Amino acid sequence: MIAPSLLSANFANLEKDFEWLNRSTADWIHLDVMDGVFVPNISFGFPVLKHVARLTDKPLDVHLMIVQPEKFIGEVAQLGARVMTVHHEACIHLHRTVHEIQRHGMMAGVALNPSTPVMMLQDIIADLDLVLLMSVNPGFGGQQFIPQCLQKVAQLRTLIAETGSHALIEVDGGVNMETGRQLRQAGADVLVAGSAIFAADDPEAMCRRLSAI
Ligand code: DX5
Ligand code: ZN
Repeated sequence: MIAPSLLSANFANLEKDFEWLNRSTADWIHLDVMDGVFVPNISFGFPVLKHVARLTDKPLDVHLMIVQPEKFIGEVAQLGARVMTVHHEACIHLHRTVHEIQRHGMMAGVALNPSTPVMMLQDIIADLDLVLLMSVNPGFGGQQFIPQCLQKVAQLRTLIAETGSHALIEVDGGVNMETGRQLRQAGADVLVAGSAIFAADDPEAMCRRLSAI
């Protein structure tokens, strides 16, 4: 699956991007919420997301790069989001948060920063619907892919098989045609792509190419 990240879109004219996004091969729309505390950048919040949600019928994949994300489970559910992903590094009571997300009818995702090992998920993996492996340090679009992530995808595949988990593996950061191919080979299910799609001459065509990997 492909999830274009709206972070690289033109926020002054989102309707224009949704014209092609809605007819594209995009499976999900990836939405990056940043608070300037968990990551060194601020993106957008619920007043913006409320309007974004009205522009599309595609499933919304909400990636919260914020501290205390459990405070906003209700708000994300109200958007009608398909997936709510919180960072392992931001959740003290991760088990409770994951089950709260699911109780609100959403798929629960847990994201790992590049320096957080896959084995940190050992005791929660069976409960998860998705794991988001960051292949850049979160906070900005357009960064370079950290190749170590490929090994983490393989390790996570093994952990999922061993535990009988149904979690999808999503990868976020520096995804393009080349790294996308490597990630698919390693066993990734969902690829997030921001700048590779939105900076392309023909974003819809690039989205189609990524879908076809
Ligand atoms: C980074 C965000 C990503 C970002 C990816 O912190 O989580 O979703 O939009 O952008 P690219 O694909 O340009 O690396
Ligand atoms: Zn993201």
